[in-house]
Amino acid sequence: MTDRQELAADPIFNASRADIERLQLERLRSTLHHAYANNPVYRRKFDAAGVHPDDLHTLECLARFPFTTKDDLRESYPFGLFCVPMTDIARLHASSGTTGKATVVGYTKNDLAAWSALVARSIRAAGGRAGMKVHIAYGYGLFTGGLGAHYGAEAAGCTVIPMSGGQTERQVQLICDFAPDIIMVTPSYMLAILDEFRRQGLDPRATSLRIGIFGAEPWSEGMRNEIESAFGIDACDIYGLSEVMGPGVAQEFAHTKEGPTIWEDHFIPEIVDPLTGEPMPDGEEGELVFTSLVKEAMPVIRYRTRDLTRLLPGRSTAMRRMAKISGRSDDMLIVRGVNVFPSQIEELILRCAGLAPHYEIELTRPNRLDEMHILVEARTDLEPEARAAQALLLAAKLKENVGISAQIRIVPSGSLPRSAGKAQRVRDRR
Ligand code: DLL
Repeated sequence: MTDRQELAADPIFNASRADIERLQLERLRSTLHHAYANNPVYRRKFDAAGVHPDDLHTLECLARFPFTTKDDLRESYPFGLFCVPMTDIARLHASSGTTGKATVVGYTKNDLAAWSALVARSIRAAGGRAGMKVHIAYGYGLFTGGLGAHYGAEAAGCTVIPMSGGQTERQVQLICDFAPDIIMVTPSYMLAILDEFRRQGLDPRATSLRIGIFGAEPWSEGMRNEIESAFGIDACDIYGLSEVMGPGVAQEFAHTKEGPTIWEDHFIPEIVDPLTGEPMPDGEEGELVFTSLVKEAMPVIRYRTRDLTRLLPGRSTAMRRMAKISGRSDDMLIVRGVNVFPSQIEELILRCAGLAPHYEIELTRPNRLDEMHILVEARTDLEPEARAAQALLLAAKLKENVGISAQIRIVPSGSLPRSAGKAQRVRDRR
């Protein structure tokens, strides 16, 4: 079977738009009834908004239902949004978040099976097949990355190497000794693994790896090229968030690499204006909102992800795609009134041939004026004049493309901290 034929064996890949919407409406109706009947928070919110699950006649009616936000999760910490008895909860995960209390999510046995099936589907979309070995370097534990990828890879019939994050020397050794076909890891940690290959004098292109499934943080097209050419692999984007499920809400196909396809048989995506909450048409950038369609333990109704992107028409299937996440509404930096996302800066750094994709952004406010400092590593040990030239080049690109002035410092290769999970690139000291 060719790759495309193998994918087509999953019936959802052949479903028409009308089939998908019919399924969505049926599943949405039952999700709304389940949440309303079994959870006081949802019942209160629906009542306050003057809507009842019976008011759902078409998919468009979903817009009448209230949003669920991270604050709703925090206020009902730890288990207040669960819609099944605690004895039916088979597993808990939590995301620490950068600020405030953790948000807790729960799964029934059926939820775990559905999640694994979607991650397995994601692995197949990325070109993974039964019998392949998958090295998992997402962190195991309360974070959904490690265990989510793990059970999905098992469900796909792969051999799982549950390495988790950290111990970078050992990551390299196991990649060399166990000969995995696929690696699942954050793109920033993949770069730390790359450094370690080079430090040990090993050729990263000589490994058995063929596919990388990268997510959990924003990453630019420049980063994709960097990783693909360094390792000689296909780098595909996997998207997800714990509140909605974990990894595997959307996945990019290896044969197109045109942005993650949202698994619309399980989730309804919407784009809303981040300020007003008004629905926006497909193609326009705004905040991504998800409603789950089959979750039992913790269904989410119109969950505001704070992730900014656009919905795009289906390409490989009738399910819609999302553009790469440009940033989170709470990651957006406002520098002297100009809005800028770290991923825009990353894209420009990677257009400077002498600069490596290791950078930190620091914001200060001396004399009441914002200043942006960017520390970027040089690719090789550049002479002082060459460094100064690279700094000027990046400064000019920033001015031209984003409209901001920044102080740029080129630092020696290997001098900035590496992350073993999600990279922390911004230090806002204002
Ligand atoms: O990061 C789940 C995950 C694990 C996804 C492994 C993919 C791979 P949280 O810790 O709850 O869950 O963080 C979710 O991470 O709202 C986005 O802001 C960001 N994010 C996740 N995937 C991507 C991606 C996991 N592919 C938050 N591109 C989300 C950009 C991503 N941002």
